[in-house]
Amino acid sequence: MKHHPLNLLKRQIVDYFYKNFINRQKNPVFSVYDSISPVVTLHQNFDSLLVPEDHVSRKLSESFYLNSEYMLRAHTSSHQSDLIRTGLNAFLVFGDVYRRDTIDSSHYPIFHQAEGVRLYRGQELFSKMNITGDYQIFENGEKNETKQPLHTKEAVMILEHELKSTLENLAFELFGKDVETQWVDAYFPFTHPSWELEIKFQGEWLEVLGCGIMEQELLTAAGAGDQIGWAFGLGLERLAMRLYSIPDIRQFWRYNDSGFMSQFDVKDPSTPIKYKEVSSYPQRIYNMSFWLTDGYSENDFYDLVRNVGGDVVEQVRLTDDFYHPKMKRHSHCYEIVYRDMSKSLSKEEANIIHKQIGEAASKELGVENRW
Ligand code: PHE
Repeated sequence: MKHHPLNLLKRQIVDYFYKNFINRQKNPVFSVYDSISPVVTLHQNFDSLLVPEDHVSRKLSESFYLNSEYMLRAHTSSHQSDLIRTGLNAFLVFGDVYRRDTIDSSHYPIFHQAEGVRLYRGQELFSKMNITGDYQIFENGEKNETKQPLHTKEAVMILEHELKSTLENLAFELFGKDVETQWVDAYFPFTHPSWELEIKFQGEWLEVLGCGIMEQELLTAAGAGDQIGWAFGLGLERLAMRLYSIPDIRQFWRYNDSGFMSQFDVKDPSTPIKYKEVSSYPQRIYNMSFWLTDGYSENDFYDLVRNVGGDVVEQVRLTDDFYHPKMKRHSHCYEIVYRDMSKSLSKEEANIIHKQIGEAASKELGVENRW
């Protein structure tokens, strides 16, 4: 669904990573995976990510299990390990994820995530930052609040900085510089240290992503023990709610409703869009065609439709532009969608408004109706 708001957001995220992470040949370093099956093994969803046997997320009441071996992924992190094993060091995964959860304005059992992973080998990290000197990424040290036992302080500092600034700048790119953000310490079995990013939405802090420095044990098990890296997982619905002012997560399921979808019909995915609430009553769809007069302007017609029809007009769009060679005349056909916010609009009511619009168009714009 090219124009679904989640897809517009996904395209913006991909563009951001393509633009900001390029190698010396000017090619993007991140590869994008967006059609991996949501059916995963318990091993992929939990064990490969070091989730303890007794962790709450493993409960039958938390996830959708298909049988004792398979489940619907609860997060896109399920694919980290397999993708790393193929040798990748930078990738994004987009996908639908499934959790048994309450249903309210910001929770729904199916939602979408974007996962990002970036790995570095030895000196790559320091040379990228133009830091020279005898720095290492590994040591045999102690685990503490800020690092894992095998990681050096210096390496973690650089990774944390890159991770946080990457995600903050993504937020600025999406929402503009004025967006309020805050970092909160977090816990995930597969990262340490870990953080969450929250953004202000409708006066409240909304958690939009989790991230951290990847557990070395995970990387070693995936055949990348010589590398160090960061990962994040972000919730697309919640970002899109903030981005388009969509008040309720359930609105994203209105992909069969042109009142919802038409609002996101833009070529450039970064076009600013402010969502207008869509009625939950049925639409009444009409066509109107007429011969144009000299000086006719499409925008005059749109204004007229809004003036005469008022709030009951949900959408107007040109569906046909026809030139009659013999008559040497142009005609336009428009589709007008009527819908009331507070009740089901009857056929009779819609007929009356449609007729009023037709009459006003011929009177004020001089067009000749083609009934
Ligand atoms: N998978 C975590 C979640 O769904 C988010 C996450 C991804 C955290 C990657 C850290 C690293 O909440």
